[in-house]
Amino acid sequence: MRSCCLPAGKYMTFIMDPLLYPSIIKQGRQLDFHEFTSKVAPLTFGYPPVLSSKFPGLWEQIKRSFQLLQGDHLVPLTDSMMGNLMLVFRQDHLDRDGDWRRGSLYEFCSSVMFEATFLTIYGKPATGSRHRGMDNMRKDFNEFDNMFPFLIAQIPIWLLGGTKAIRQKLISYFLPQQMSRWSNTSQFIRRRSELFDQHDKLKDVDKAAHHFAILWASVGNTVPATFWATYFLVSQPEALKMVRQEIVDVLRDSGIKFSTDKDVMLSKEQLDKLIFLESSINESLRLSSASMNIRVAQEDFSLRLDNDRSVGVRKGDIVALYPQSLHLDPEIYEDPQTFRFDRFVQDNREKTDFSKTGQKLRYYLMPFGSGSSMCPGRYFAINEIKQFVCLLLLYFDLQLDDAQNRPNLDSRRAGLGILMPSSDVRFCYRLRAI
Ligand code: HEM
Repeated sequence: MRSCCLPAGKYMTFIMDPLLYPSIIKQGRQLDFHEFTSKVAPLTFGYPPVLSSKFPGLWEQIKRSFQLLQGDHLVPLTDSMMGNLMLVFRQDHLDRDGDWRRGSLYEFCSSVMFEATFLTIYGKPATGSRHRGMDNMRKDFNEFDNMFPFLIAQIPIWLLGGTKAIRQKLISYFLPQQMSRWSNTSQFIRRRSELFDQHDKLKDVDKAAHHFAILWASVGNTVPATFWATYFLVSQPEALKMVRQEIVDVLRDSGIKFSTDKDVMLSKEQLDKLIFLESSINESLRLSSASMNIRVAQEDFSLRLDNDRSVGVRKGDIVALYPQSLHLDPEIYEDPQTFRFDRFVQDNREKTDFSKTGQKLRYYLMPFGSGSSMCPGRYFAINEIKQFVCLLLLYFDLQLDDAQNRPNLDSRRAGLGILMPSSDVRFCYRLRAI
């Protein structure tokens, strides 16, 4: 454990021993996550603070809306995502000539996942099946995302060049008069629109800014996570072969014989059976995630770490978990820098048994945060990455261009989520002959 002093005069305590994580995570009352996000998120996305007497009950309503991303609600979300992925793949990539096509892998993953996720969460346009201007929107989104670390660090937006104008443009896509014309909108977004309408003091542009924040939450991490899962599998042909076979087997067990001239549908139930694919995704999250879990002390108190140790924390101090150090700890993960697609499988089931100094760890993989602030979109995220990889492996032969090293992690977003690659990777793909 280590403490250091922040320039703003706040003490920040990093908990480095993962065996101590449970004592921090269970202190939800004294160590609060929302004090931090409720201050930073409005400044970043441009809506008024939610925890305010102007909007009674809004914060609780927003929290409750997160349930619409989980449990039974995942079934329609998953079905809709499958249809949208298929639509984008079919129209943009599944030509019938079978020649090799060249591309850049991050760009490929980003264009498909951004659009399919957008269609799934926000719905389809008034006319046609795809929104116009998606590429421009994604370009603006990426520019905003480049500035995201500065906004989270509370650098005033007017110091960040054209970022404010770009944010306004992105927010304006979600103005209520526009969104009301969209169809097939997820229940999650419909519910949020209804509850925003219950608050008279929330202006149209504020409602739109809330919807924009969800766009960031839903693609900001999913796109780089999809890239890493895909990259690692394509870079290890043996792993790719095993995972592809697993997908074909699950389809066959449901009586489906796959062929590339037909659309394929994988239900949530089928996706749940793909344990080697899930392990590959978890392994790539382990290697690429660098989110920090931040808690703010609500009062002076003695933080009990284990039976022998406790530490004094003052009101306002920040306590942080940085799971990247756990993810790359050689005592927990042998040869931690190596991608092992089956690291999270044991006896044909998910492996959950990881330990340090002989003690079993309760928390060993934390790309989605922890405790009360854990990502509510985590099940949907894993499902959509699985769906993307399934389609890619089923429909295409894939090859990385020669002489390319594994890209480094771009550390600009360290502390904030999944890291991007420092450069894109060239690859080629062609329709499989089946
Ligand atoms: C919050 C990670 C995908 C919605 C978070 C947090 C993390 C995270 C680390 C903060 C938790 C904390 O600080 O303890 C990820 C990763 C994803 C992903 C790694 C993809 C691989 C998604 C998706 C959605 C989503 C697809 C929605 C469709 C949210 C929301 C919050 C959140 C709404 C804020 C929760 C709150 O305010 O309590 N996510 N996320 N995320 N995520 Fe995700």
